[in-house]
Amino acid sequence: MTQDLRLAVAAELERARARTALLTEAVDDSDLVRQHSPLMSPLVWDLAHVANQEELWLVRDVGGREPVRRDIDELYDAFKHPRGDRPALPLLGPAEARAYVDQVRDKALDVLDRVRLDGRPLVADGFAFGMIIQHEQQHDETMLATHQLRDGAPVLDAEPPPAARIPVTGEVLIPGGPFTMGTDTEAWALDNERPAHTVDVPAFHIDAAPVTNARYAEFIAAGGYDDARWWSARGWAHRQAAGLTAPMHWRRDGDGWAYTRFGRTERIVADEPVVHVCYFEAEAFAAWAGRRLPSEAEWEKAARFDPATGRSRRYPWGDDPPEPRHANLGQRHLSPAPAGAYPDGASPLGVHQLIGDVWEWTGSGFDGYPGFAVFPYAEYSQVFFGGDYKVLRGGSFGTDAAACRGTFRNWDHPVRRQIFSGFRCARDAGPGAA
Ligand SMILES: [Fe+2]
Repeated sequence: MTQDLRLAVAAELERARARTALLTEAVDDSDLVRQHSPLMSPLVWDLAHVANQEELWLVRDVGGREPVRRDIDELYDAFKHPRGDRPALPLLGPAEARAYVDQVRDKALDVLDRVRLDGRPLVADGFAFGMIIQHEQQHDETMLATHQLRDGAPVLDAEPPPAARIPVTGEVLIPGGPFTMGTDTEAWALDNERPAHTVDVPAFHIDAAPVTNARYAEFIAAGGYDDARWWSARGWAHRQAAGLTAPMHWRRDGDGWAYTRFGRTERIVADEPVVHVCYFEAEAFAAWAGRRLPSEAEWEKAARFDPATGRSRRYPWGDDPPEPRHANLGQRHLSPAPAGAYPDGASPLGVHQLIGDVWEWTGSGFDGYPGFAVFPYAEYSQVFFGGDYKVLRGGSFGTDAAACRGTFRNWDHPVRRQIFSGFRCARDAGPGAA
C-alpha cells in the first residue's frame, strides 16, 4: 500500500513537471522573463516559485533537510510581492531557475523514498506531496492563462475538443432537502474543502450546461452591456470604468464575433461555453435572462448529490477519477468543449459539464465551512475568507484532474476574467417543486 502510494505520488510529481516544462519551454528566454500582463507574473517567476514551495514543504519541512536556497525564499513568497511588482525583482534567470527546479526535485524524490507516509498528519496519505502536486498544477493553469495573454505567434498546440454527442439545453430540477457538502475522506482535499457538513438546499433549477457563446452573444445583441438594469451597482460601476463590451478576447467580426485564443483568431463557436467573463458580467447576464447565479451549495449539490442513495459523490459521474471521456480537463484541449460533448460525465440528475471546460462563477463569497480548521497553513485559504472574492467551481480545460474534484473550491475577485471563467444560471423552484 505504502509503496503504491509512493509510486503514485512520484508519477503525479512527474506529470505536473512535464506540464510545467511544456509551458515554459514553449517560449524563448526573453518571453519567459517578460511580463505579459500586470495581472500575471513572468513565467520564470512561476517556475522558480513552484520549486520554492516544493523546497519549503517537502525538502525542509517533511524531509528536515538543509535549505537549497534560503536566500530566495522572500522573492518567491506570493504574499510579499504583488504580481505587478515581480518583474522588477532580482529573480533567478531561466537557466538558474531550471537548475534550481531540478535540484529541488531530486531532493524531494529522495525525501519521498525515505519518509514514512503514515506518520504525522502533514504526511499521512502523502498529503504534503498531494498539496505540492496540486500547487504546481494550479500554477500550470495560471501559466496557461499567461500564455493566453501573451502577444505573438502561437506556440501551444492541442487537439480540438470533442464535438457535441447529444443536445444539452434547458435546465434540471434539483430536489430540495439536505445533502453532504465538503469532505472528510478525500485524502488530498485542502483545508477549505473540509469538513463534510450537512446543508439543507431548497429545490432549485440549474442549467443543464454552462451558458454558451451563442446565448451570451444574444445578451450583447440585446444591449445587455448598455442597460444598468441588469447590473448590480458595483457591477455597473466596473462595467463603466473598465469599458466592458464583450468577454475578454472577443472582437467584432462582421455581424458576429471572433476571439483570439493562444495566438489564433477564429469565429466564436456557438455552442461552446463562454469563457473569460468576470463575475459582474455573469451576474448581469443572469439577471437579463430572468435567472441568478447558483450559490456554491447549489452548485455542489447539483454536482455531487445522488438522489438514489442520498450520498454525495466525488464527481458528478461517480467516485472514479476523471477519464478523458468524463470531462475536458488537463490542457488536453485548449478551449472548452461544446455543450453535450461529455454525456459520460453528467450527474445522476442530468447536469452536464460541471467538471472541466470552464470555471463556473457562483453567487457565494469565500468562507470557511462550519468547523473549519487551518491545515497546514493559514495563507492557503483562511487569510482570504471574507475578502472581496467569489467562489468558482468545477475546473476548466486548463485545470488538471489532480486539482479538481466535486469539493474543490477556487476563488477570485469579481472583476477578474483573465482566468478560464464562465458560468451557468439557476433559479428558485418555488413551493411544491421538491
Ligand atoms: Fe503559489
